[in-house]
Amino acid sequence: MSPPAIPVRRMAFGRPDPATFHPLYIGGNSALSYTHSAMGLYAEHMEPFLVKSVRRVLDRVQDPALREAADRFCRQEAQHFQHHADFNKVILGHGYPDLAERVQRLKADFDGFLADRDDAFRIGFAEGFESYTTQSALHALKVGWYDNEFTLEPWGQLFKWHMVEEIEHRAVAHDLYRHLFGGWAHRAAMCWVAQRHIHRFIGDVIRLMSAVDVPRHGPRCRITAKARFYMAVSPMALRLRAMRPGYSPADLPVPAYVGHFGKDFSRRAEVVL
Ligand SMILES: [Fe+2]
Ligand SMILES: [Fe+2]
Repeated sequence: MSPPAIPVRRMAFGRPDPATFHPLYIGGNSALSYTHSAMGLYAEHMEPFLVKSVRRVLDRVQDPALREAADRFCRQEAQHFQHHADFNKVILGHGYPDLAERVQRLKADFDGFLADRDDAFRIGFAEGFESYTTQSALHALKVGWYDNEFTLEPWGQLFKWHMVEEIEHRAVAHDLYRHLFGGWAHRAAMCWVAQRHIHRFIGDVIRLMSAVDVPRHGPRCRITAKARFYMAVSPMALRLRAMRPGYSPADLPVPAYVGHFGKDFSRRAEVVL
């Protein structure tokens, strides 16, 4: 039997040792590493929101294949946020004044979306967020950040696994949105809302962490002007690409190495469902 297109893997990443934690764990690069820390902190609260939002509409999905894919999407995301929650304890434990408070504000946003917004907002938000993670994941795996000689383990493997699975389930939120709601204008608007939300959070986390780390870990923790420019421009390109009327994550070319990485993680998983 061939493996499922969206395999649910239970990985056994050991939590990093807080005593040896260094914040520049992706390629030894400040902008990249802080962006990943922000993504991990975001995932801990965003992904439970995603799972709850999708589970709320699952009974309305008429297509059995899409319902199965949406269920597997939820189970993959549930694995992601549990591992990130574990790793985030190491980041938060490294002592960043105001970071925990910023994370609590993030959690309050998602609690509010679950309490006060409708399904079209939530699934549209999910679609906008997933269009960001898919494109980011394809780029990250292409340039090899997680296998870089200056990337520290197990951080690199955690994010590599997560990005592989984001690509595996890249079409689910988009297909769900189209199946239940359709409509380009609302999808594009939600793409803008969702991606602005994560980028504001990433910007805040980078500022908070870098300011604390420069005095204690040295000037490499500064964000260079070049990195600042790149971080201001590249998210906009991703956002506009995903907002265009014909966008579909199913059309994005996925290189063969993504499949090889997936097989490798399946081999190393404790369980694959
Ligand atoms: Fe995820
Ligand atoms: Fe995802």
